[in-house]
Amino acid sequence: MAKKVNTGLEYNEEVINDRLSIYHTPSASGKNTFAEDIINGLKAKRKFILPKYFYDEKGSLLFEKICNTPEYYVTRTEASILKEYSDEIAECNADKRIIVELGSGSSIKTRYILNAFLRLDGNITYMPIDVSAIMIESSKRLLNEFEGLGIKGTIGEYLDALEIIEETVNEPKLIVFLGSSIGNFDLPHAEDFMKKISDCMKSGDTLLVGFDLVKDINVLNTAYNDNKGVTAEFNINLLHRINNELASRIDVSNFEHRAFFNAKESRIEMHLVSKCEQSFSLNGSGPISFKENETIHTENSYKFTGGMVMELIQKSGLTFVKKWNDANDWFGLFLIRK
Ligand SMILES: C[S@@+](CC[C@H](N)C(=O)[O-])C[C@H]1O[C@@H](n2cnc3c(N)ncnc32)[C@H](O)[C@@H]1O
Repeated sequence: MAKKVNTGLEYNEEVINDRLSIYHTPSASGKNTFAEDIINGLKAKRKFILPKYFYDEKGSLLFEKICNTPEYYVTRTEASILKEYSDEIAECNADKRIIVELGSGSSIKTRYILNAFLRLDGNITYMPIDVSAIMIESSKRLLNEFEGLGIKGTIGEYLDALEIIEETVNEPKLIVFLGSSIGNFDLPHAEDFMKKISDCMKSGDTLLVGFDLVKDINVLNTAYNDNKGVTAEFNINLLHRINNELASRIDVSNFEHRAFFNAKESRIEMHLVSKCEQSFSLNGSGPISFKENETIHTENSYKFTGGMVMELIQKSGLTFVKKWNDANDWFGLFLIRK
């Protein structure tokens, strides 16, 4: 039976076993929302697709492949910081037995954090949140690896899931947001998002956020243009997803991947470029037309300076506690508290 939180949001709880249950929110299965968002984005003056739509099953697997490319330094750099400092992170959060993760994906790097917390105390509850259902399989793998772990995951949007957590969890919690996914928000939206996270935190709760830092432009451009074309495939997969889920016939070969560092905005931009003039329609949308070289903007990935991060923390009304960087200062993990 559906449960409801104060705001009226409904969710269902699927109990998989005595250590694993999954909350499903309506937006996780919202096919109409997908169709509406895609059509609105493609009919906008500057065409765009929301980056959360990268992550169908194929997109989630491709993202994991990106993480293993030699060019994509983000994952291995953040993992190296977690490997070195997770014990310290756990000690700074010794009062917490609840770990919430926004955009958990396959939870690979999170293992360092879970391990460190379990070393301090034999039992913790991990609450991953992700729009992708790959979370169920990765949660089952985590249960096999970690004896003292209980998992309550949510398949749904970040903020829907946080509403459920705010109402159902009273113990102190640490919320983690890795992979510099915060960089996918435009800066004013990142501030709004941090404020919304803050609304779901109680005094003393903490937030650990991974920020990708500004660095050599060649390193940045290469990371999003890997030699084997995995990032290109990830980007193009959006068009396959549209064809699969909206029964459309976009000629995917008429588009190509483009990613570049926009220094003025301090962000990597990812686009799908129309190689020719073309037109198609989606779900009775009427014609969606492209000029040659017109692009669909599919992702921003902001690169931060320490100052930008501190300003964001301060503007969202939270308090900086501590940060951990790699030796090259390519990536920073910031611990913040309410
Ligand atoms: C860039 S990946 C990062 C995965 C992992 N945290 C890491 O650091 O490797 C972003 C993850 O967030 C999820 N995601 C993206 N937008 C989301 C949203 N609006 N709500 C919930 N999950 C989202 C995606 O499915 C994906 O697993």
